[in-house]
Amino acid sequence: MAKIELPDVKDIFLEYRKMQLLYQSALKEIGTKLEILNDEFKFVHKYNPIEHIESRMKSEESIVRKLMKKGQDITVENIERYIDDVAGIRVICSFTPDIYRIVDMISNQDDIEVVRTKDYMVNPKPSGYRSYHMIVKVPIFLSDTVVPTRVEIQIRTVAMDFWASLEHKIYYKYDGHAPEYIRTELRECAEMISFLDSKMLAINEEIHSLKQDDMR
Ligand code: GTP
Ligand code: MG
Repeated sequence: MAKIELPDVKDIFLEYRKMQLLYQSALKEIGTKLEILNDEFKFVHKYNPIEHIESRMKSEESIVRKLMKKGQDITVENIERYIDDVAGIRVICSFTPDIYRIVDMISNQDDIEVVRTKDYMVNPKPSGYRSYHMIVKVPIFLSDTVVPTRVEIQIRTVAMDFWASLEHKIYYKYDGHAPEYIRTELRECAEMISFLDSKMLAINEEIHSLKQDDMR
């Protein structure tokens, strides 16, 4: 039997694994930074702005789908060039002002470069989706080099997160083609969520000012 010459793909796998290592490290760096900020805030203000943090690496299937959608070849170089959210971290806050607090605290760190921000609270998506998105670069110190590595940070309230997870599930069922009346209803739900957020914030501020009056 003739021996088949295999192409030398070892380098590609090695390059891909190195890229994964960088993104995983970036998730750890950003996760730790957020935990430190939350701990310090809790210490100073007796209040934690972060309810919880989730992080994930984009699946290989989603990476390939996204590159194909963008009409790009499937190469490690193109993943780095065209995909912003290989490493993704989601920060769930209690109240809307907490979101901007986190954004400011992250942006003010000297080693973080903010590449892009999208404020979907000021400008909700047509679906009704609300959140604050940041693409940042964090330096990863390897044995012989420093590699600035991109992470997508999504920051939202518990209520916005509730809406986004359920909307995502419903949309998934319809394979992205939900009928118009369903989309309208989901948009209406997003409005209600937004109302709930402002109502909860008002209650919290009211309680806070009552407490301060008590102390006087
Ligand atoms: P992508 O190609 O999806 O990354 O779009 P983009 O590069 O314009 O990024 P965008 O800032 O819109 O953020 C995309 C991410 O935000 C998605 O992967 C979701 O996690 C989230 N997202 C954006 N729009 C919606 C929405 O309508 N519903 C839900 N549930 N999530 C959304
Ligand atoms: Mg994106």
